[in-house]
Amino acid sequence: MNPFSPRNLLSTEGMSRHDIELLFGRARLHARGLRAGTPLRSLAGRVVANLFFENSTRTRLSFERAAKALGADVLNFNAATSSVSKGESLVDTVRNVEALGANIIVLRHPASGAAHLVSGKVRCSVVNAGDGTHAHPSQALLDAYTLHERWGTLEGKTVAIVGDVLHSRVARSNLYCLTTLGARVVVAGPPTLVPVGLEGLGAKVLPSIDAALEEADAVMMLRVQLERQKESMFPTPAEYARAFGLTLGRARGLKPDAVVMHPGPVNRGVELAPEVADGPANVILEQVANGVAVRMAILESCG
Ligand code: CP
Repeated sequence: MNPFSPRNLLSTEGMSRHDIELLFGRARLHARGLRAGTPLRSLAGRVVANLFFENSTRTRLSFERAAKALGADVLNFNAATSSVSKGESLVDTVRNVEALGANIIVLRHPASGAAHLVSGKVRCSVVNAGDGTHAHPSQALLDAYTLHERWGTLEGKTVAIVGDVLHSRVARSNLYCLTTLGARVVVAGPPTLVPVGLEGLGAKVLPSIDAALEEADAVMMLRVQLERQKESMFPTPAEYARAFGLTLGRARGLKPDAVVMHPGPVNRGVELAPEVADGPANVILEQVANGVAVRMAILESCG
């Protein structure tokens, strides 16, 4: 199945360069419309349902902003205050939301594969807004778009993905997206948090964060996902920061034009020193702002 059909966005795996660049073109158009205060209302009369079974700030609000800017009606659902607390299943929930008129379901769920499962149970479109440790395609697309708008192309550029790769759906989705666009991807992190097999996906695993930073045109620092760790996979946050965090000292050694990225939320003082999170190389809020236009392009392609 094509993970990016006009109907669904489930993963960046399998998306072609043409798919991604087409989407970037539409995102650029939407960004211009947003700046001018004249967004294209191409989803007027459609209904977008945001179904979040896991907490979110950026992704949920970004999809809501994107859907409203396109003229869609938006239904927001929070699992904690829904009938899920009375035992209603995921499949019954999405079928009921579709019966309420949803044309697009934006789903975040803690189980890997949830979006794929749901896409087989409803007729409306499904957008994966993060499923377990599997995929977060809209985040990867907005990350790649941010670099593409800055550089014009990702060909010949090196992107370092650093930290808790094992639990990171952002890392996995970025790996597919960045390599498809021609970037070289290097990965570094604690040995307990770097899964085997990344080379098979096109990444080069480096033995230390310093080796990865030295080569990077962009650094993606990953959040340490304590909520997904069944046991402690590193001694203490302070020790993690010393060994694997982007400290001010390490940031000073980056290439002069290198940019620092983070999908958010940032664990300040763990993977990213506060001075670096707020420093001149960071494009973290640019990523967030770009997310609206990219998600407008995604919703439009599904709607
Ligand atoms: N980057 C990201 O997915 O952030 P949220 O969890 O706040 O949506």
